[in-house]
Amino acid sequence: MIKLGIIGAMEEEVETLLEQMEDKRASTRAGSTFYEGTLNGLNAVVVQCGIGKVNAALCVQILCDCFGVTHVVNTGIAGSLCAKLDIGDLVISTDAMYHDFNCCAFGYPVGKVPGMDVVAFPADVEMIRLAYDAAETVNPGHTRRGRVASGDQFVASGELKDKIIANTQALCTEMEGTAIAQTAYRNGVPFVIIRAISDKADNSADMDYPTFEKIAAHRCAAVTMTLAAALKEIN
Ligand code: ADE
Repeated sequence: MIKLGIIGAMEEEVETLLEQMEDKRASTRAGSTFYEGTLNGLNAVVVQCGIGKVNAALCVQILCDCFGVTHVVNTGIAGSLCAKLDIGDLVISTDAMYHDFNCCAFGYPVGKVPGMDVVAFPADVEMIRLAYDAAETVNPGHTRRGRVASGDQFVASGELKDKIIANTQALCTEMEGTAIAQTAYRNGVPFVIIRAISDKADNSADMDYPTFEKIAAHRCAAVTMTLAAALKEIN
């Protein structure tokens, strides 16, 4: 039986899901409220983890240990690293890596966590397929599959953006996805990241962001609801 853990960093990213959740029960751990219930008939647990890698990772571990989730989805907004990805477009992760993890002094490439067997944590192939189909249903012709780059930084300069692209070849950047990916990977739980573009991660970021944040966050939630329905079908 599938039990889907869904993590968003901000209120806008989870509020639509919580409005649509049935048989909702709330409990609090480590300062975050976890909502158990059903989404389109699928057993799910939704949590707003807060911003950044540590908040994200600890919520995944709680989802695994205390709620027994079998699959994990990270939904939210991201800055575009790809000229072909416009505001409101969707990214489905094929894998995820840190852009701010640096042990280069010891010969590791940027992003590599010493002791881990991969630089980029691979998303689950079946979840990628279902999430891509869900995204194409919500916003046809505006979805790309590729790498997500994460770090504890809101990226708002062309210089940093170019550095992240050179180091990661990612399609978009945000602040939680790879921590979620790494924690899911270590627990052997399949995951996928679904992100909608809210800004261009450059000097225009602070101008675009408030305008597009809400639209992008709600679009992602719609994709997640559609994915829940698809997972219910194969359950
Ligand atoms: N989330 C949305 N836009 C972002 C950006 N430009 N940098 C980091 N996280 C983001």
